[in-house]
Formats: sequence, structure tokens, C-alpha cells
Amino acid sequence: MTKIISLLNQKGGVGKTTLSTNIAMSIKEHGKKVLLVDSDPQGSLRDWNEANEGKLISVVGLDRETLAQDIEAVKNGYDYIIIDGSPQSAKLAGAAIKISDLVIIPVTPSPYDVWACADFIEIIKARNEVTDGKPKSYFLISRSRTGTNLSSEITEALSGYNMPVFNSRTVHREVYAKTASEGLTVHNDKKAVEAIEEITSITKEILELI
Ligand SMILES: Nc1ncnc2c1ncn2[C@@H]1O[C@H](COP(=O)(O)OP(=O)(O)OP(=O)(O)O)[C@@H](O)[C@H]1O
Ligand SMILES: [Mg+2]
Repeated sequence: MTKIISLLNQKGGVGKTTLSTNIAMSIKEHGKKVLLVDSDPQGSLRDWNEANEGKLISVVGLDRETLAQDIEAVKNGYDYIIIDGSPQSAKLAGAAIKISDLVIIPVTPSPYDVWACADFIEIIKARNEVTDGKPKSYFLISRSRTGTNLSSEITEALSGYNMPVFNSRTVHREVYAKTASEGLTVHNDKKAVEAIEEITSITKEILELI
């Protein structure tokens, strides 16, 4: 059965697209077939795919409210589908939540960023109530400024949601932006040891969950 993972957050610039490509690459390295779905009308994933001439991972752009049916039509043969969420459309995010096995909500370690997703978390929780807990939903700290402990204010802001947080997280590293601009992932830069390690660790947590 194809597993569907969505990276969603209405807040822009939190790392949805960066995490989508890097996690997809890491899952692919486990020998799995992965399809990336660009649900963002901005088309960032499609640009990324164009930059690598479509050589890394299959990318399809599906940014209509018919997302669920459209994915159904293309999902055959894939082990994992990763949906890169749009910051603009609540309807698209709602459609993605309905079909996902796992929703990942990237947040930067800023209380403002965490508070900004309050409405979105409500939507997920409302969905969970009618589906007996599906999809699983986790926060993922993105672009952390340090590799050490999170500040108490962010930990406190997160705990207010009663939603689990991945143990692994990404640190702010130039190599994420650099590889993205070349249509690549950190896995394509053998020197990016720490970045590869954190993405591998996030992926391990994901594969243990679904
Ligand atoms: N861990 C990181 N370290 C450094 N830069 C990062 C990291 N993650 C993402 N970035 C950079 O931050 C910017 C925003 O990231 P990204 O485009 O992935 O966010 P997004 O949530 O998809 O944004 P949008 O909501 O506009 O789609 C990009 O320039 C990206 O290269
Ligand atoms: Mg994006």
C-alpha cells in the first residue's frame, strides 16, 4: 500500500519544500519508489525538478482541490508519496490531511511561528476526531540555530498543542539552500555530513511511524 506523507504549514518559508526533497531522497536511498507531489501553485518543486532535469525523483504538480482524486490516479507503483504543501490554500491543505498517513508540520524554533499554526492544528485535530486518529501528525523543528537544546519558550509553545514533536530536526545550514538551487539534495553533497545525518535521522523516525 502506498503511504502518503504531507509537509504542511500555512506559514511560508518554514522548510516544507526543502524537507520534501531531502526526505524523498533519503527514502529513495532505502530502495523505495517515491513520488513528490507539488501541491503549491508557486511550483517550487517543479522548478527544483527542472533544475536537475528530472533526473532525481519523479515530481508531479497537482494543485487543484481535486488533489485526492488526482493522487489516486497517479499513485500506482509508488511506495511513498510526499506532498509538498502550499502556504496559500487552506482547501488544498485540508485535502492533503484527508488522504495522508502522516502529516509533518515544519516549524522554525520561534514561538511566533509555532503560535501561527494554531488554526491549522485545530483542523488536524478535528479530522482526527472523526477518523480515530488518522493521520498521525508531528511537528518537525526546521532551521534550528543550534544543534543543542531548544529554548524553553519554544518547548513551551509547542507543548500547548498536545501534539508530538520529532526528536530529530534540521539545523540552519547553507548547504540546504545551495543544493536546492542546483536542483539537488544534501545527499548529493558528500561533504554535507551533518545535514545528511539529520535528514537520515528524520527519515528513520518517519519510517518507524508509517
Ligand atoms: N535547514 C535549513 N538551513 C538553511 N536554509 C534552509 C533550511 N531549510 C530551508 N532553508 C531555506 O529557507 C527558505 C525557505 O525554505 P522552503 O522553501 O523549503 O520553505 P517552504 O515552507 O517550502 O516555503 P513556502 O511556504 O514559500 O513554500 C529557502 O530559501 C530554503 O533554501
Ligand atoms: Mg515551498
